[in-house]
Amino acid sequence: MSAGAVGRAYPRLEGREKVTGTARYAVEYPTDGVTYGWVVPAAVVRGRITRVDTDEALASPGVLAVLHHGNAPRIAPGPQPELWLLQEPAVHYRGQFVAVVVATSLEAAREGARLVRIDYDTGSHSTVLTDDHPGLYKPEHVNPSYPTDTVEGDFDAGYAAAPVRVDATYRTPAYHNNPMEPHATTARWHDGRLLVHDSTQGAAPVQATLAELFELPRESVRVIAEHVGGGFGSKGYAKAAVVLAALAARHVDRPVKLALTRQQLFGPIGYRTPTIQRVRLAADADGRLTAVCHDAISQTSTIREFAEQTAVYTRSMYAAPHRRTTHRLVRLDVPTPFWMRAPGECPGAYALESAMDELAIAAGVDPVELRIRNDAAVDPDQGQPFTSRNLVACLREGAQRFGWAGRDPTPRARRDGRWLVGTGVAGSSYPARARPSSASVTARPDGSFLARIDATDIGTGARTALWQVAADALGVPPERVEIRIGDTDLPVAPLAGGSMGTASWSWAVVRACEALRGKLRAGAPPGTEVSAEADTTDEVGGQPERPRYAYGAQFVEVRVDADTGEVRVNRTLGVFAAGRVVNPTTARSQLIGGMTMGLSMALHEEGLLDERYGDWVNHDLATYHITGCADVESIEAYWLDERDDELNPAGVKGLGEIGIVGTAAAVANAVHHATGVRVRDLPIRLDKLV
Ligand code: MOS
Repeated sequence: MSAGAVGRAYPRLEGREKVTGTARYAVEYPTDGVTYGWVVPAAVVRGRITRVDTDEALASPGVLAVLHHGNAPRIAPGPQPELWLLQEPAVHYRGQFVAVVVATSLEAAREGARLVRIDYDTGSHSTVLTDDHPGLYKPEHVNPSYPTDTVEGDFDAGYAAAPVRVDATYRTPAYHNNPMEPHATTARWHDGRLLVHDSTQGAAPVQATLAELFELPRESVRVIAEHVGGGFGSKGYAKAAVVLAALAARHVDRPVKLALTRQQLFGPIGYRTPTIQRVRLAADADGRLTAVCHDAISQTSTIREFAEQTAVYTRSMYAAPHRRTTHRLVRLDVPTPFWMRAPGECPGAYALESAMDELAIAAGVDPVELRIRNDAAVDPDQGQPFTSRNLVACLREGAQRFGWAGRDPTPRARRDGRWLVGTGVAGSSYPARARPSSASVTARPDGSFLARIDATDIGTGARTALWQVAADALGVPPERVEIRIGDTDLPVAPLAGGSMGTASWSWAVVRACEALRGKLRAGAPPGTEVSAEADTTDEVGGQPERPRYAYGAQFVEVRVDADTGEVRVNRTLGVFAAGRVVNPTTARSQLIGGMTMGLSMALHEEGLLDERYGDWVNHDLATYHITGCADVESIEAYWLDERDDELNPAGVKGLGEIGIVGTAAAVANAVHHATGVRVRDLPIRLDKLV
């Protein structure tokens, strides 16, 4: 790859379109004869619909139809039972979408939804996760396919014999994904073919799911997702909105636009499961770990099993001879949890990196030094050397930039007027994966190039990064390259998720560019277009199994009001080792975005569930608090110049998730340093500090 575009800061290619409002999102495409769908959520937790009265709704001006289980088009039961919508009278959780009103205007649809009357038979329900729930069980594996439990050595014996021990239980609440653009779809049918503009992290998985549900060949479904206003995991697969829009469009035989409201995102789209995590650490007098155990409990629904891989982080992070991790799950009458930025690693790192801070205090070792002493050259889980592991370098550079040296470890030792000041650190890691992809590139007679790939840019800057990679792989200035993404008519590619988008897509783009250069060298007739394609299925599948991870170190300084317990974050600083950074502008935005979401987890976000009601009671951004700009006083993200040849042709590890991992623990550790109070159940509210 010739030096050039990669590594340089370019603004997003679609930036101007986005800020001027001309970039079109899923329900913004002008559509002839369009109608509007509005969903009706179930008003009970668990039960059965006994009657749907649509008379009043249908009499309301503009209402065209009310779809429900009694009249909706039939669909096949696909692999995701929660998408088998409007097919049966059963209600599995409060808020489940049980009807859709279609009308000639959005307002008419909304009014129609208000007028639908539904009667239910209800049963008792259980919606609160506890560590002694009678329904606790051991799932067969955890997301996506990790072993449920792992054992090495003899944890109990190792723990009992150690001079320094920590035994602590950490709790995290439910967290709700709130992308700026809600789940939204425009669907239309024409000659038995289905066209959807969907807000999704992956057009191809949506296409596959729709084809399955509607029993169509894949080629009969086209999914376009040119611009997507965020997802954080919640749009990783087809979700309710696209299925309901397609059902409604078929029923009324007109195009349908359907967007969920902000309130409707809290549950039905998936959420981060609450967790209860017991972590036990044992060490010798120097703080070298001898025994590590992480037992994680989380929840799933009665509809489908989703088992968060909460303790997986602990398997590869720090070395110790005696190690055990377990996952247990309980089925509750709740919506199915799903991916939210770094599922597993994020809540798991909160627990382990908090426990490491407790161990540092118990052992009398500086918490940065403690992590350095427990670094692992060989993956404790896979037993193989990491392709690259620069956790220690991140810790060292972070400590230096943050000004960690000389820190007095004594809690409540620093005071600034009425504020207690404290600092905290945490480690961070996230797997660097890649999946097979395909791409094509065309050389045009005018000297320009067109790269085509069904990648998705959910706001990350992926489009711009791939354009830079393509330019370098072609050996031309990026101005001569055009890139098209976000459409299943383009070469098939995996979703934007698991921090593996850029790794997977750039691999195929580089190979397609190389193939094109080969063809051009062989000579092409002047004035003609020359195209080449690549498919990395064999190459990615044939890559040796090796532990590949990105690393980071998070440093936080907080001040806590000594009288009120109010927590403010003075500084957040992260140093990351994530392979080659394609675009410093968009990379920084991913990292500080992840770190901000980690601050939000530490201090603000909390789904509050009321067992009597059987649902979260805070269903909007007025009552579900998130970190805002005013809460982020100083945030800095740095990265090491890391080269790892055992990843992928672009040498990237992925940056979407590493920023959130560890941040909440760094905040909790800083709060402990400031106040002497160890908060083990997030969020850190002021009532827990006074
Ligand atoms: Mo991300 S939670 O893997 O989309």
